[in-house]
Amino acid sequence: MIDRCARTIDYIRISVTDRCNLRCVYCMPEDGVQWIPHNAVLSYEEILRLCRVFAGLGLSKIKLTGGEPLVRLGIDALIADIKAIPGISCVTLTTNGVLLADQLSGLVSAGLDGVNISLDTLDREQFRAITRRDELGRVLAGLNAALDCPGLNVKINCLPMGSNDNQLVPMVALAKDRPLSVRFIEVMPIGLGKDLEYRSEAEVRAILEAHYGPMTPFHGKLGNGPCHYFSLPGFVGKVGFISALSHQFCSECNRVRLTSEGFLKTCLQYELGVDLKALMDEGRDDEFLAQAVQQAIYNKPLQHHFADTSGQQSLEHHGMSQIGG
Ligand code: 5AD
Ligand code: SF4
Repeated sequence: MIDRCARTIDYIRISVTDRCNLRCVYCMPEDGVQWIPHNAVLSYEEILRLCRVFAGLGLSKIKLTGGEPLVRLGIDALIADIKAIPGISCVTLTTNGVLLADQLSGLVSAGLDGVNISLDTLDREQFRAITRRDELGRVLAGLNAALDCPGLNVKINCLPMGSNDNQLVPMVALAKDRPLSVRFIEVMPIGLGKDLEYRSEAEVRAILEAHYGPMTPFHGKLGNGPCHYFSLPGFVGKVGFISALSHQFCSECNRVRLTSEGFLKTCLQYELGVDLKALMDEGRDDEFLAQAVQQAIYNKPLQHHFADTSGQQSLEHHGMSQIGG
């Protein structure tokens, strides 16, 4: 599908739950989280119906997100069913990794193409401070299990946030001998992320290059999105940056998002889009849904205004765990 800014939109992130087994400081409060009631969350039947509509409009690449998608039962069956839809070329998952080792064989048998593991530190105490849970061991077991799966594309997503400055060099070392991308994501001013210390791509690169020497831009194609990659001498894997603030990439944006409540969100920053669950609850047919999706995507906003400090950036009132990142 092409939007009014001539961007090809072929990728959708689908949040399957707002629940999570971690409590990352930039995402959720320690307790008192307002969970979405179960009956307001899309059923698998509804997700599959929408995936058929999306596939018909040329959205061929799907990422399942959360919250934490692996806390919802039966994700492997959902993946198998999505993979069977004509027009879907790629189904990937973003996870905190805690339940990955347990579930990996089922996910891979279902046809999972790749996995992004969120991991901000390799230090157990720091991990506990950031996520409020002592689960680093299980995450690393999940990462190693994923790397042992032939053909599974594995990436690590790390938020540089000041408190983990001393972990950026060790995080990148994970890519030395393994075909793994370690990607640094600039913290966006959404939800609790507004209160987090910010490190720019340039600041992270300076820390990494002081240790590893100059990095070389890598121009090959790796993945679906806005990440740009660098090679390091002697490294099998790559280092990537997703720099929504310092290198705004809206003009190349290829994605939309579906929240766990069934709202199609056309830009991370805005509450713009269409409530597809409401349309399904009204009994609308697939043709009606397709037109609603088409119209919402066509009107996708030109760009975000995160860098605008005039108050504009608070246009989205949901947190990351509800949107799915
Ligand atoms: N900015 C950027 N990324 C974020 N995430 C959560 N909050 C933010 C934010 N404010 C990402 C992190 C986390 C994943 C679930 O979502 O990468 O690991
Ligand atoms: Fe869970 Fe991800 Fe939010 Fe952490 S950032 S609490 S892992 S949804």
